[in-house]
Amino acid sequence: MNIVILTGAGISAESGLGTFRDAGGLWTRYPLEDVATPEGFARNPVLVHDFYNERRRLCREARPNAAHEALARLDAEWRGGLLLVTQNVDDLHERAGSRRLLHMHGELLKRLCAACGARGEAPGDLSTASECPDCGAPALRPDVVWFGEIPYHMEEIAAALADADLFVSIGTSGEVYPAAGFAREAGFAGARTLELNLEASGARFDEAREGPATILVPAWVEELLSAQS
Ligand code: APR
Repeated sequence: MNIVILTGAGISAESGLGTFRDAGGLWTRYPLEDVATPEGFARNPVLVHDFYNERRRLCREARPNAAHEALARLDAEWRGGLLLVTQNVDDLHERAGSRRLLHMHGELLKRLCAACGARGEAPGDLSTASECPDCGAPALRPDVVWFGEIPYHMEEIAAALADADLFVSIGTSGEVYPAAGFAREAGFAGARTLELNLEASGARFDEAREGPATILVPAWVEELLSAQS
């Protein structure tokens, strides 16, 4: 059985990393136009670097939680097809041990050169003076996908959705496309769809379970692995 899992900010909420649209979420404290668009970066690169430097620091201080660890256990023990697509830019899935993983919105701990396109690890903080190790231009930006930019790995994700037998959405409000359309895409391809979320997002799933990810995800992984022949 081929499984595709989509995670959002809700899976990292219990690790202390904020969500975007819940009460107190990032977009209730920062106008996303200023800190998560190419136009915002062009207008005020110092503000945007400060915003991502702060998120990078919080990410490094955070720890994977039981939900990340359960998905890493599934990655290690599931003998069928498995792809974990995350909208999150934190590295908690990697640190928990997930391998079959794609970051469709990029990664906080990576840098991208706006001049030559080179990517690499983001050292500590980035600033407007940070020089690209590849071309030397002071043109580094966080390697995250901003609104209006094309998410990464879309062909590989579409192929996995077309082959999916089960699609599971965890900790995402389903507000942002193209990720918000994955459940329908997988359903059209014949997959069963399951949502594990603090509260049902209201999108159409064959089954929806409500509760914190650290409770729902380990229980669901245990259910799946104990039924694996
Ligand atoms: N356990 C499970 N789900 C939770 C928890 C929790 N402990 N806490 C919150 N949630 C759920 C909320 O109910 C909500 O549905 O997580 C979801 C968070 O939704 P958003 O804040 O919209 O985050 P997300 O869906 O990841 O946003 C998608 O929008 O801003 C862009 O690029 C950004 O990747 C992000 C994308």
